[in-house]
Amino acid sequence: MPLDHRLQPNPYADISSVVDLAPGQESFRDAALRGLALEQKAISPKFLYDARGAELFERICEQPEYYPTRTEMALLRAKASEMASLIGPNAHLVEYGSGAGEKIELLLAALERPEAYVAVDVAREQLMEATARLATRHPGLTVTGICADYTRPLPLPSAPNGRRVGFFPGSTIGNFTPDDARGFLASAAQSLKGGGMLVGVDRRKDKKTLDAAYNDAAGVTEAFILNLLRRMNRELDADFDLDRFRYVGFYNEAKGRIEIYLESLQDQTVTVAGEKFRFRKGERLHSEYSCKYDIEDFQALAKSAGFQPQAWWSDEKQLFSIHYLSATPLN
Ligand code: AVJ
Repeated sequence: MPLDHRLQPNPYADISSVVDLAPGQESFRDAALRGLALEQKAISPKFLYDARGAELFERICEQPEYYPTRTEMALLRAKASEMASLIGPNAHLVEYGSGAGEKIELLLAALERPEAYVAVDVAREQLMEATARLATRHPGLTVTGICADYTRPLPLPSAPNGRRVGFFPGSTIGNFTPDDARGFLASAAQSLKGGGMLVGVDRRKDKKTLDAAYNDAAGVTEAFILNLLRRMNRELDADFDLDRFRYVGFYNEAKGRIEIYLESLQDQTVTVAGEKFRFRKGERLHSEYSCKYDIEDFQALAKSAGFQPQAWWSDEKQLFSIHYLSATPLN
């Protein structure tokens, strides 16, 4: 397994370390070729986060219609001390999909002597910057970045005396189908045994609010999803014409989830990594689900995965929730 600083000098090697489990190139090619050959074409949302995608996602978070980020941040700010007392002292934090690394700061500010912070993310540049900044700001904290896909089994640094506590904010859990979310939670419950996990979960709500959040007027969400085609053009020698596809994102009320697709505006053939794929007019390439959960439904899901729901918090408008789940088995 190559370490990132062997590929390029890591200017931050003295304060934080980044381990590269190489989640990149090869798997994107395989996933794209496999996904485009399916009856319902589909490519996992984890491939949206190349450097440009990670930047566009940060911009989505600033859009007025996209309430989840600011609502969750406000909730973290308001309730961090309650969360910290449930988590307890000397925590070894593990964040799944750490992104720009802003949310963990709100938690760190309230925690009693946190010992370690492990950030896991596929976006390498952002991970290096975020872990370096954190290590500088928190001299007593052992900071490690793991450039990896957390949907796969993950080796974690050992936590000899501290409790491991997962941090999974942003409602990223909504990207999984409920069955896959249960699978992810079940394996997290194993690696966090004796500790717990703090999870951000977007709540079910009226269709109008949800449709608006995924169809911002500035078109940033559209650009974020279309970037998947650009990424294939850049990295997989593909020839997608971005003017021949349109972004489609809507709330499916019956299923309780946002569904996001790229829709072909005409019959066309596209070449990706030397292979040809036909799109019919109106045919859709599935990009994302963003599943929404009522409080009780999420608690039931967490229980079925082996966690004990301990507490939850929400904002005044009932838009977003944060759950603390204990990973201590009942007996
Ligand atoms: C990062 C998965 C939480 O589902 O709201 C935002 C991704 N996609 N707008 C979400 C996303 C389009 C986001 N998550």
